Amino acid sequence: MDFAQAGKILKENGQEHVLRFWKQLGKASREALIAQIASIDFRALARMADLLSKRGEPPAKKRAPVAPKVHELAGKARARAVAAGEKEIAAGRTGVLLVAGGQGSRLGFDGPKGAYEIGPITNASLFHYHARKVLALSLRYGADIPLYIMTSEANDAATRAFFKQNGFFGLDPENVVFFTQGMWPGLDDGGKIIMAAKDRIFMSPDGHGGMVDALEKRGCFADMRKRGVRTLFYFQVDNPAVEICDPAFIGLHVLEKSQYSLKLCAKRDPGEGLGMVVKRGDSFDMIEYTEMTDEMNNRRTKDGELYFKYGSPAIHVFDRAFLEKEAAKDMPLHLAHKKIPCVDAKGRAVKPSAPNGWKFEKFIFDCLADAKRVTNLAFDRADEFFPVKNAEGNDSPATCRAGLQAKWRRQLAEAGIKVDESVPVEIDPVYALDAQEIASVGLFL
Ligand code: UD1
Repeated sequence: MDFAQAGKILKENGQEHVLRFWKQLGKASREALIAQIASIDFRALARMADLLSKRGEPPAKKRAPVAPKVHELAGKARARAVAAGEKEIAAGRTGVLLVAGGQGSRLGFDGPKGAYEIGPITNASLFHYHARKVLALSLRYGADIPLYIMTSEANDAATRAFFKQNGFFGLDPENVVFFTQGMWPGLDDGGKIIMAAKDRIFMSPDGHGGMVDALEKRGCFADMRKRGVRTLFYFQVDNPAVEICDPAFIGLHVLEKSQYSLKLCAKRDPGEGLGMVVKRGDSFDMIEYTEMTDEMNNRRTKDGELYFKYGSPAIHVFDRAFLEKEAAKDMPLHLAHKKIPCVDAKGRAVKPSAPNGWKFEKFIFDCLADAKRVTNLAFDRADEFFPVKNAEGNDSPATCRAGLQAKWRRQLAEAGIKVDESVPVEIDPVYALDAQEIASVGLFL
């Protein structure tokens, strides 16, 4: 793209002001700005502006949400699911999707969130646990399990460097695929692109739902097809306890011929900040915790149980072909009103004290609306959900480390090894993934 082409497309979209400071810019700044303009999806931009123009309007009426069916696997049904899942993994048909576009800013950590140190004894990083689990699984099942890691522009280089510095945690680099998500411009109330500087458009990551588009654009779906991968285990970077490729979950997904499967856990309290899977007529939907009303959070069944009992920890399994079809569709947009540092029409820096612009994101769970076959599996959160989200309090490094240690102590006890509460514990996934493996390998002190 050159200056004339950039000017033309901006004019067609009512965004000429982006080149307002062109005459004041040096060569490098001009090139960078043109590259940014070339990266903009102007069709998406038109959708964003349209959404903004309609923001005062009442939301479209939807059918009342009802709680969906949730499997609670036990006994023979669990054994059948585990066998099917193990077969899928051992056949090399399973891949892992890790969304790690976020920074550790809520934790006061300057770097990719996955580099945050969480190991109670070794200070191992979040990435360490994720990567070592994938390695342990591929060793256990004698199969390649490619790990696809979504990064964002802000943390891509640092994430790749972190894996390199750590020898890919023992994984074959051929089986680790980094791909960056898209970036979207921020808009002001009038739908105009916000300039972060005279030579720079303000842009932010397009949300974890941007994964679908990025998998297509960066050739990851093609890579999966080449490898024969058809079942994708998806999770977030913040939870080191996640049971990656849990065979029962993978197996249930395969047996149910599901397109989109979700692990769900009972909420800690009625107002816990978890997304809720619901059914509206024949379709599924996720209600974000910010959109749950008090009445919905506290509604009870005749037996006194919470009606909307299960929340989503964002642990999913996807059918690859289903996700590929989703890539051809426009996902819904979610907007957030934010304080966005910028320059005004005269090029003066502005540090807003109140929200002055809009950021847009896509959410992966919006694919639920298109899934004809959805399977929900209940799990015990004490086994695999200790996310690190806040610096203190709930879902903090302290609660995560305590949760991990309690889980490892339970596994050791199950393997016949009693460890005093006062002794810190940490188990590397490659040493053992569960109590059975601890029992078979034994303990070296
Ligand atoms: C999220 C879910 C919520 C779920 C909860 C479980 C949303 C909107 N909400 O909340 O339904 O119950 O986790 O823990 O997702 N990410 C990217 N790129 C982006 C944005 C996010 O890769 O552009 C990744 C992050 O690195 C992280 C994950 O997506 O791994 C979740 O993002 P985050 O913003 O932390 O979501 P939560 O508010 O914690």
